[in-house]
Amino acid sequence: MSWISEKAQSELTRVRDAQAKKIYPYFRPFESGGLHTTIAGKPIVNFSSNDYLGLTTHPKVKEAAKGVIDQFACGLSSSRVQATATLHVELENRLAAWFGFEKSLIFTTGYQAMVGTIMSLADKDTTVVLDNLSHACILDGTFLAAGTPMRAPEVRFFNHNSAKALDRVLRKRDRKNALVLIEGIYSLDGDEAKIQEFIEVCAQHENVAIVCDDAHGTGTLGAGGRGIIEKYGLEGQIPVVISTFSKTLGGIGGILLGEADVVDFIKHTARSFLFSASLPVPIVAAASAILDMLEADGEALVSELHEKAAYMRKGLIDIGLDLGESNTHIMPVMIRDDIKAMMTHVGLLENGVLMVPIMYPAVKEGEERLRLNVTRGHSYEDMDMALDLLRTFASSFSLVGEPAISAAT
Ligand SMILES: Cc1ncc(COP(=O)(O)O)c(C=O)c1O
Repeated sequence: MSWISEKAQSELTRVRDAQAKKIYPYFRPFESGGLHTTIAGKPIVNFSSNDYLGLTTHPKVKEAAKGVIDQFACGLSSSRVQATATLHVELENRLAAWFGFEKSLIFTTGYQAMVGTIMSLADKDTTVVLDNLSHACILDGTFLAAGTPMRAPEVRFFNHNSAKALDRVLRKRDRKNALVLIEGIYSLDGDEAKIQEFIEVCAQHENVAIVCDDAHGTGTLGAGGRGIIEKYGLEGQIPVVISTFSKTLGGIGGILLGEADVVDFIKHTARSFLFSASLPVPIVAAASAILDMLEADGEALVSELHEKAAYMRKGLIDIGLDLGESNTHIMPVMIRDDIKAMMTHVGLLENGVLMVPIMYPAVKEGEERLRLNVTRGHSYEDMDMALDLLRTFASSFSLVGEPAISAAT
């Protein structure tokens, strides 16, 4: 047996154990797309999806993808350098205009958009400054940049969502330029970035630029769904925004937004853009159809999401469940115990509701939770069903803590 097999076997102990007990919760195959699907023939309402406006399976989106398949098929067989379609360019122009930036660039995934952007922008004159709960694409982009010979930037972390901690790090940095990496909404905790405080702190230092990954804010924040910048009126204050087609925009694909020169610089240097195949055109057409709907009805779509999120939040709080730091439509149910999180997940699934458990090492031990995202595509009946089940499990698995005894009693 090679060392590779030995390593794989020893690293897989937890996974194999859970699979043997038939409680392994990941990679369950869906038998159709959408929020309402089946797993092993059983109807399921998916509450762990990022299809925030419920438009991924809209008939117009499917028609748009079908409409270009004869012309472009499912791939252009190379990277964008020699495999750009007219539809890529049209959508880039529309995205730039809709988000309110000079230029945009479509990557093949949001992950690649962030990795490529960090690697292009961060060099030996840069301190990369990042939140200690950053998404993997931010961490990986930073670590790749830090490992690049002759170009390695300095890397500094700040405490999650703390402008004070960011200020401390900016004061102590070694390099001339600082690249501050934040997210509009942190997806594991469902909390918005304190972006106005970050902008204020950054303005007090020389040569600081913010890159905001608004993957979860696109379609959910701001009256028209343009994200955290629209919500707080921050136009012109964040030089680079990254987003994705893999949540509100119905497919897969990354979006880079910025000034024309910045986007063109990244377009000509980002290795994750230059050395990976271009986004299939049916997916470009699908995202374009969703952008049509956002342009026509964005405000109504976003406000329906917010009404549903408010309904679910009230129901969860009435049960007494702990939603951690969440202040958005992403409402993790904090179970804070791995066995109870697993039991609740299995109990929900047996009854037709999918909430995927998030466990160590994705989160710290004691912070185990169920991923619960409310989307516009959920009905009030879906939410009531999930709430009824959670109420039952909250009592049978003791998910709700004892009410605090006041000092007076
Ligand atoms: C904050 C954040 N950034 C980037 C990504 C990656 O996006 P994509 O799925 O397009 O690669 C995700 C997806 O999970 C995310 O949550």
